[in-house]
Amino acid sequence: MHYLLSTFAAGWLIAPALVLGHSIGIRSGRATLCATNGRQVTHNDSNIWPWQTYQSSNITPPYLTINRTGEDLASGLLFIGQENDQSTGVKQVSPFILTDDNELVWGGPEGDSSNFRQQYWGDQSVITFWVGTGKAAYGADAGRGWGEVQIYDDQYNLIKSVCPQLNLTMPTDTTTDCDADVHESFITEDNTILVTAYNTTQADLTSLGGPKDGWVYDSIAVEIDLETNEPVFIWSPLAHLEINATHEEYSGSNQTDPFDWFHINSVQKWNDHYLINSRHLWRTYLVNRQGEIVWYIDGENGGTFGSLPNDVTFSWQHMARIRNVSSTQALISWFANDLDTATSTVPSKGLTLRLTLPPSPEHPPELVTNFYDHQYPVSSAAEGSFFPLPNGNTLMGYGDEPYIKEYGPSGDVRWSAQFAGYNLGQSYRAYKQEWHATPSTQPNLVVSKATTGDDLEQCAGKSSTLRGYVSWNGATDVEKYRVYAGSDANSLKLLGDIDKKGFETKFSIPKGIKAVEVAAIQAGNIIRKSEIVHV
Ligand SMILES: *[C@@H]1O[C@H](CO)[C@@H](O)[C@H](O)[C@H]1NC(C)=O
Ligand SMILES: *[C@@H]1O[C@H](CO)[C@@H](O)[C@H](O)[C@H]1NC(C)=O
Ligand SMILES: *[C@@H]1O[C@H](CO)[C@@H](O)[C@H](O)[C@H]1NC(C)=O
Ligand SMILES: *[C@@H]1O[C@H](CO)[C@@H](O)[C@H](O)[C@H]1NC(C)=O
Ligand SMILES: *[C@@H]1O[C@H](CO)[C@@H](O)[C@H](O)[C@H]1NC(C)=O
Ligand SMILES: *[C@@H]1O[C@H](CO)[C@@H](O)[C@H](O)[C@H]1NC(C)=O
Ligand SMILES: *[C@@H]1O[C@H](CO)[C@@H](O)[C@H](O)[C@H]1NC(C)=O
Repeated sequence: MHYLLSTFAAGWLIAPALVLGHSIGIRSGRATLCATNGRQVTHNDSNIWPWQTYQSSNITPPYLTINRTGEDLASGLLFIGQENDQSTGVKQVSPFILTDDNELVWGGPEGDSSNFRQQYWGDQSVITFWVGTGKAAYGADAGRGWGEVQIYDDQYNLIKSVCPQLNLTMPTDTTTDCDADVHESFITEDNTILVTAYNTTQADLTSLGGPKDGWVYDSIAVEIDLETNEPVFIWSPLAHLEINATHEEYSGSNQTDPFDWFHINSVQKWNDHYLINSRHLWRTYLVNRQGEIVWYIDGENGGTFGSLPNDVTFSWQHMARIRNVSSTQALISWFANDLDTATSTVPSKGLTLRLTLPPSPEHPPELVTNFYDHQYPVSSAAEGSFFPLPNGNTLMGYGDEPYIKEYGPSGDVRWSAQFAGYNLGQSYRAYKQEWHATPSTQPNLVVSKATTGDDLEQCAGKSSTLRGYVSWNGATDVEKYRVYAGSDANSLKLLGDIDKKGFETKFSIPKGIKAVEVAAIQAGNIIRKSEIVHV
């Protein structure tokens, strides 16, 4: 069964009409070009969230269900790295760029794509994501992976694969070519990238009731020089901390399933220091270049900074980020999961604290944000992101749960979206960012027969029996498509312009046409043409 949930006939466009050799359409002697959004929404499997389909592309992004209040949202595009939680929650496991109006912009290669985002490499705006082995949240490798960070330019050319070679010891039966873990891929201003990596090693576990030579993960912070691919900084938690500081329950381990006592999940470089987040210690550390701990914040008792403000403890947290730094103050934010099992109903929160520097218990942290959705709370046991937006809003990605919400400056939920069933889909983090790209590919045009009574018939008339469908995967700034048509490829004439409608624009083709070509128009100029399609 194939259920059509909705089609999107977003108003007709009557293009500047041009004289053709025959008479069709509503004006005698002139062709009428009609256009609409070509997308359809499909839902034919109760386990899989509804997805979008197109004629001119086989990409099948999620069909977001969106609630919005109408209050201002930040500009920018949504970046999600959609993955399954179970084996079948989402139609396509890929990185996706979408608008906050639910239109696809880019569908990337199939496969896990942790931490998909835009960032700057020097002056160059690029997109990055992790690919490799291991899953972000389920299966034997739950919560970590081994792979590479891919960097793409604004034509979607892969310009760099960051494949760290760290001589890691792997868990039994696991092999990899590259050693970067799923959790971080932060390009710094020093032409380096920060990644995390999970090493397997032995440690004394007697303080936890385990053996003297137990197996653990040492989840390390690594800075890689993007020129030489060599590590220039490595920080090992095992070399600096006691394993019994963990909140993770110890119930045995071996080389197949080492004990993940620290669980690093974010690293940020700040003034030649490193902000390192440990999910399982409920702590965030500031470490200097020599590897010494300068200070730390503890989610239960505040750590070096003294006690946390009332009622804002945090635990199992993700994405620690420091910003708005002066010599005496800084803001630090987290996505605070506050739970590590899917059975808890504590709502996860976007937490921001104002720190007084240098740290002193006399000036404890002050609460800046404690954002969660009071009406439709989401409890996420793993992953997640809390990302400030330029207009003062923040974007919260719920990680292991398939929700994204944009909050206003005072914590009001202005926009929320769901992209998979509860516990069935995930995106490790979610970002909303500016991104302008012109793909190195061509716009893709297909022509097919109109179905009787379709959404363009009333505008185009019954004599127009063909429909064109054009999309250009990844193009961000196309305004219009210019349509050329004729009785053969050598006699193409300008038919008119149609406004771009979503990812795929569907348009009517006048009677008698045998060849069609479409050009993408940006800022008034043709920037790329499709192939000529013979009909
Ligand atoms: C569901 O849709 C897919 C295409 O996405 C198709 O291959 C499959 O046959 C459909 N299943 C049913 C039961 O209609
Ligand atoms: C990995 O091993 C090679 C060969 O022994 C060595 O040259 C390199 O420095 C090592 N790298 C690290 C990060 O330890
Ligand atoms: C990984 O652990 C092994 C011991 O199992 C150790 O020899 C190696 O130096 C560690 N590598 C890093 C990069 O910490
Ligand atoms: C951790 O174990 C060490 C001994 O290895 C002990 O001195 C310390 O008190 C323990 N800390 C906690 C928090 O249990
Ligand atoms: C490794 O330890 C886990 C528990 O931590 C256990 O479930 C598994 O069976 C063990 N595997 C082996 C090969 O001993
Ligand atoms: C952070 O700094 C920016 C720029 O100085 C300022 O606009 C913003 O209000 C500050 N945010 C907070 C929460 O203090
Ligand atoms: C959107 O609102 C509906 C109620 O109208 C609610 O059931 C749903 O959970 C909301 N979705 C999100 C993503 O918050």
